[in-house]
Amino acid sequence: MMDANEKRTFFFQTPIGLESLGLKEFELKFPVRYPSTPLPHGEIIEGGFTLELPINVGIGLNYWLKIPNRILLREAHFKCRDIPKFYNKVKKLNLKSYYAGQDYQFVISSKDSRLFDDRKIEKALRDALEANLKASEPKADAKIRVSNYKEWKLYVRFEEDWCTISIDTSGDRLGMRGYKNRVGKAPLRENLASSLYFFTALSLPESVGDSFTRPLTLIDPFCGSGTLLMESVLFFEPNLFRNYAFEFFPQAQNLSIQRPTSYFLERELFLLGSDIDSERIEDTRENFREAGLLTLAHHLQVGDLAKADFQKKLSIEIFSHLDSRKILPWFLSNPPYGKRIAQELKANQLLDSLKTWGEFERIGLLLPRDQLAGLTPPKGINFVDKLDFIHGGEKVRFSLFTNLKVNNEKPST
Ligand SMILES: C[S@@+](CC[C@H](N)C(=O)[O-])C[C@H]1O[C@@H](n2cnc3c(N)ncnc32)[C@H](O)[C@@H]1O
Repeated sequence: MMDANEKRTFFFQTPIGLESLGLKEFELKFPVRYPSTPLPHGEIIEGGFTLELPINVGIGLNYWLKIPNRILLREAHFKCRDIPKFYNKVKKLNLKSYYAGQDYQFVISSKDSRLFDDRKIEKALRDALEANLKASEPKADAKIRVSNYKEWKLYVRFEEDWCTISIDTSGDRLGMRGYKNRVGKAPLRENLASSLYFFTALSLPESVGDSFTRPLTLIDPFCGSGTLLMESVLFFEPNLFRNYAFEFFPQAQNLSIQRPTSYFLERELFLLGSDIDSERIEDTRENFREAGLLTLAHHLQVGDLAKADFQKKLSIEIFSHLDSRKILPWFLSNPPYGKRIAQELKANQLLDSLKTWGEFERIGLLLPRDQLAGLTPPKGINFVDKLDFIHGGEKVRFSLFTNLKVNNEKPST
């Protein structure tokens, strides 16, 4: 039987370029969620980070972490240089806690190993799992349980003379939150949007806790289906809107993992989203509704940011609203660019016009890396920090600026 407190190695798979940000998210949230478990040391490798955690803690993080793509539980790590050895090892693995004959999708990778032929590996894996199952027939209720879920993945990695077998605990990638039914033309992946919000909050000079709890006005005038607005609001909230593979493990009940059932949302927020396309605004509104966010202070509207009159309208909405509460706004956006959407506003033009609107604590723009790499911000706008990663196969950069008169850049440590 599965021992929920047993320590195991987990791999938190992240988008390339977001590994250390993902680990920072873990380090921030973990002590809050699991105050009695010591913070383990994470090790960053390309495409993610590993941690030793009690089995129920590592798996339970599926509800809380917003940056990883998925959480893998390392099940076996053994020396292996040929297919018969691989077959025998898999046949004898004790997989009862996770496996009751479900149809796995295999994710096989190989580096500097004698074993690299995917088809041979896959056949051996399939045969060995079948034999494994025959040797210890699962109970009928375990079979029914796993048949209620479809996204089963088993990861097999060969590196030099070693084989690692990992069980996927997430199922659908974690960026699929389950509350976004409507998407625009070039939607930002949810875990990337979360990363942009988190990176922005970390760039503030105050203590980390304060930067996440004080009131916030957030503007995205190219909001598309509203991903950045929603992910910013929900960064600390549990994801309540989907199922995870581990919930269908044959012995899931032994894990004693509590599924969160509600938000905390205690922060004072004002969200302003606009888009040139009225359908996108409908998408955002529908997604807000689906995510249970319509009760938050927000204003969604159609508008062309290239037009001076709309810029004026928006700036009045932002800054007249703020005066009474002294909340410094953030402008975070993923403006139109690239092949899919013709670029209408150059980053420098945008920054130049924003500085006439009022003081922004942070202005964050996600654009192709080459568009931001050589950019010298206009006078009055200061560069704060940047984050490079891959989005839709493209090298992108998220650059942060400020036009605050009092410098509030994070002191370098
Ligand atoms: C890259 S998409 C942003 C996607 C968004 N982050 C999401 O996740 O859905 C750019 C958006 O800018 C909008 N857009 C294009 N030109 C615009 C303009 N001049 N003013 C306002 N919105 C514009 C497009 O309709 C599109 O929804």
